[in-house]
Amino acid sequence: MNHVVAGVLRGRLAEAGKLTFAEFMETVLYHPTEGYYNRPEMTIGEGGDFYTSPMVHPIFGACIARQIHQMWVVMGRPTPFFLLEMGAGVGTLAVDLLQTAERGDAGFFAALEYAIVEQGAQLREQQQARARERGVAGKMTWYETLDEVPGQGERVGVILSNELFDALPVHRLGKTEDGFVEYYTVADGDGFAEQAGPLSDPRLPEWVDAKTLAQLPAGERFTVCPAADEVIRAMGRLLAHGFVLTIDYGDRSPEVHVQHKRADGVRAYYKQKQAQPYERVGLQDLTADVDFSLLVQSGAESGLQEVGFTTQMKLLGGNGFLHKVQELRSKRFDLMADAEMYRMLNLFLPQSLGEVFKVLIQAKGVEIDGLAERLHALTFSLEE
Ligand SMILES: C[S@@+](CC[C@H](N)C(=O)[O-])C[C@H]1O[C@@H](n2cnc3c(N)ncnc32)[C@H](O)[C@@H]1O
Repeated sequence: MNHVVAGVLRGRLAEAGKLTFAEFMETVLYHPTEGYYNRPEMTIGEGGDFYTSPMVHPIFGACIARQIHQMWVVMGRPTPFFLLEMGAGVGTLAVDLLQTAERGDAGFFAALEYAIVEQGAQLREQQQARARERGVAGKMTWYETLDEVPGQGERVGVILSNELFDALPVHRLGKTEDGFVEYYTVADGDGFAEQAGPLSDPRLPEWVDAKTLAQLPAGERFTVCPAADEVIRAMGRLLAHGFVLTIDYGDRSPEVHVQHKRADGVRAYYKQKQAQPYERVGLQDLTADVDFSLLVQSGAESGLQEVGFTTQMKLLGGNGFLHKVQELRSKRFDLMADAEMYRMLNLFLPQSLGEVFKVLIQAKGVEIDGLAERLHALTFSLEE
């Protein structure tokens, strides 16, 4: 247990009696200096509690660079082209993407302005150090929040995130014969426990679509993420013309809310293994499956139209992934090449990360008729 975080939670519980799970999650993950993401020792990948796709292999950033390059072309090669990544972790995707762009189309690289919105000061420092090491820091700027980014409503480009939305605080709800309950966090000796009670805000179920709510059997649990609603609206407000490219695990409604069979998709990770949310408070990661239907609905209210919903396999497959696999396969009896190829394939294969991770593409101020047929991520098929 992180004693500072636990102390803050106990203090708040002594006053309020109970906290919503979203309040608990916000504190354990994002306390400014001791929250899970903001501790000095925070890292992702080797030595951390979980891996994300950019950490598996640089091909991930390279394929995304290619997809974004195509978006730039579709938009008529605007200059400057603003590429904003929100929630960039240790900065691996940003540097891989920029280095791929630098080796590619000179016009595209010259047009690119890369911004990171990252809540954590310590992570921003890690990102800046990595960007300097890899020689791309000159292309980049950093912000703590989306609202702080200058040029609101005027930006032309792409807003990108990988595993941002699954790290946003969620409320935990349940459906009963008589309506809904919320699962709160309460004190339990030296630790914390769950307690059911009435909803903290009667509007919470409205963030899940009505058909899904009607379909859920009594006894089913689900999560609601008002923070995701806020973030996607803020992304829409920032753009004049462009795309929002979201990669995350989860699904649309109703699938995302029914697939857990009486659990709700909240997961804790410690040293690459799943754990319980109330264990090792502040020292382990907490995530929740993303409801992509919420991103589509709330995004539409800030002008973002859905262009397509697909999988990481198709995003990568459509953007050069298999050429790299082919290159490695042709190095016969090269054990290093084999090992690298198997590592890469984890990102792509459906039984590995390829279908667990979903990709949502939304657009604003871009003609969307026929657009889905022009974007590599949405046209890829294994049959070809
Ligand atoms: C699960 S990590 C993913 C990191 C990285 N994208 C990757 O794939 O390795 C979530 C990231 O989102 C950041 N984050 C969470 N909420 C945020 C917010 N409201 N604004 C900016 N960054 C946020 C966290 O600090 C962290 O960098």
